[in-house]
Amino acid sequence: MKPATRHGNARRAAPRPGLKDLYAAIRADTRSPRDWECLAETVAAAVRPVLPSARQVLLAVPAAARHGADRGQVLHVEPDGSFSVVALITRPGYATSIHDHTSWCVVGVVAGQECEERFRVAGAGGFLELTGTRTDDTGAVAGFAPPGDIHRVRNSGVGLGISLHIYGTDINRIGNSIRRTYDLPVRSAR
Ligand SMILES: [Fe+2]
Repeated sequence: MKPATRHGNARRAAPRPGLKDLYAAIRADTRSPRDWECLAETVAAAVRPVLPSARQVLLAVPAAARHGADRGQVLHVEPDGSFSVVALITRPGYATSIHDHTSWCVVGVVAGQECEERFRVAGAGGFLELTGTRTDDTGAVAGFAPPGDIHRVRNSGVGLGISLHIYGTDINRIGNSIRRTYDLPVRSAR
C-alpha cells in the first residue's frame, strides 16, 4: 500500500523528464532567431536539467543500434526544420572523423565518457593544429557554433557511450549535419 499524504493522496515522485520534455525545452529556446553562439549556450542550459536517461534513449533507437553503431540515430526533427536531435551510441575507442558542422550544435552525454578534441587549420591549410581537449562525463552538456568548430569526438570510457546531438537545422533535408571532414596531418599547438 502506498503511503498517503495529509490530504489522503498517494505521494508520487516527480516523473523523470523524457524525450518529449527535451524537445519542448529546445523548442522554447529556438522560437526566435538569435546569434548562433548565444543560441547554443541557451539551449545547452535548457537541456541540462531535462537530459533523458540512457534507457529512454536506447528504447527510442532501433534494436540493432543499442550496442553501438557507426551512424547517429535521428530521434526527432522539428516540423518547422528549426532543430534535429540525434543519438550517438558508441563502443569504447570509437572516434568520429575530424569534422565541422553546418549549424550550431549542443551535445549532452547521457551515459559513459566522451572526449572532444578541437582543431584549427594551420600552415596555410597544410595541417591541423590541436587547440584543446575536453573530457565530458555523464550529465555534461556543451554547446558550440561555427565557424571554428572543427573537432573529433571519441568514446573515452570503458563502456557504451550514449550522447545526444542537437543541431540547429533539419537533418532530414540536408542529409547530414557535417559541413566538411578534414583529412590532414595533426600537430599539437606549441
Ligand atoms: Fe560533431
